[in-house]
Amino acid sequence: MLSKEKNDQLCKTGPNTPMGKLFRCYWIPALLAEELPEADCPPVRVQLLSEYMVAFRDTEGRLGLIDEFCAHRCVSLWFGRNEDSGLRCPYHGWKFDVNGKCIDVPSESPEFCTNIKLKSYPLVEKGGILWTYMGDPENQPPLPEYEVCNMPADQRFISKRHQESNWLQALEGGIDSSHVSFLHGHNLESDPLFKGAKGNKYNMADLKPKFEVEDYEGGLMIAARRNAEDEQHYWRITPWLMPFFTMVPPRGDYPVHGHFWVPIDDKNCWAWSFDYKPNRPLTDQEREAMEQGAGIHCAYIPGTYTPKANRANDYLMDREAQKQGLTYSGIEGIAIQDSSLQESMASIDPETGERVAWGGICDRTYEMLAPTDKGIMMARRKIFNAIEALENYGELPEGVDPEHHKVRSVSVLLPKDQKFLDGAKEAVRVKQDEPHTSV
Ligand code: FES
Ligand SMILES: [Fe+2]
Repeated sequence: MLSKEKNDQLCKTGPNTPMGKLFRCYWIPALLAEELPEADCPPVRVQLLSEYMVAFRDTEGRLGLIDEFCAHRCVSLWFGRNEDSGLRCPYHGWKFDVNGKCIDVPSESPEFCTNIKLKSYPLVEKGGILWTYMGDPENQPPLPEYEVCNMPADQRFISKRHQESNWLQALEGGIDSSHVSFLHGHNLESDPLFKGAKGNKYNMADLKPKFEVEDYEGGLMIAARRNAEDEQHYWRITPWLMPFFTMVPPRGDYPVHGHFWVPIDDKNCWAWSFDYKPNRPLTDQEREAMEQGAGIHCAYIPGTYTPKANRANDYLMDREAQKQGLTYSGIEGIAIQDSSLQESMASIDPETGERVAWGGICDRTYEMLAPTDKGIMMARRKIFNAIEALENYGELPEGVDPEHHKVRSVSVLLPKDQKFLDGAKEAVRVKQDEPHTSV
């Protein structure tokens, strides 16, 4: 349980909020590279951390992320003309470069532009993602080193979907592995990106896993322990890196996957989902399955990043499938099983103070956490401590240092008397070209 004040502190990420300041210490995924595919292509609206921006790739191929609204009379520059090394507002023709600097006001002499500049942030391509850093330029860290960012294009697949909820309830789904055996249990044996892995049988045979959580550079290692044969435990180890990165433990030789949970505003977030294999290209079948929405990805309304199954159509709920046990919740696919429940979480209506569904920010004054929520409890505590250290001492949080990004998820069988981080000490570190440790 969290008080309303504490909950708001974690959930709200606008400028000058405590959590907003924390987020602005990190490089954040802003767009898929495919959204700005070539020089002078159409600009794209970007909303992150409750700020409105527009991104474009200019004639020289340079990337820009600037204030969405024109410096003249606040028109959205999404309507702009991307031409001759800048984005030109279609209202009266003012033109801005990738750094937000005004470079032409056709109705005035050249000196008129001199001091006109829009807010802008760096936008850099790495690993198929366009990253931005929205914080103090003096503290800008080196580019991210999550293993997926260093994969060649044929070894990775990255998608993003719009989720109508606050970022924190999405993240908390990513570090709550106890729901997998229930909500996603049926998918383990039907999904083309999971079925047949040896580890699945341990998941389904032991529905009372024990959770152990260890502090780790950059975040936490969250481990679920299940009984296995021959005096062994089957461990599934999920790294969480501050503030928004989680990685699902692998299954067999399938690609390994994970997420970035990125706030759009306080009631919406991007669920970024990636798969990769460090030691081989993805097969055609794997890539096709991902494109069709298998594994942790989803099918979309064409031309958008909005899932085809969404709140407006009750996520295509199939009560018959639920009754027959074809799916546990009646909803098809892991991503939508998660988003349907996370979007439904009870909120408080700010005007009436009453509980309502679909309000976006989960009201944690009513929740009742269980021992399986240990990872969630420790992650919240770690974020609170980081907020305090940043506010009071200007201390940069863990996970800003790219060295912290070089972690892996693991699934492994260990002797019953071995501690999980002793047994998996090497396996949780990135090793170039080597596959993940996986059962
Ligand atoms: S509002 Fe953009 S040029 Fe006038
Ligand atoms: Fe899930």
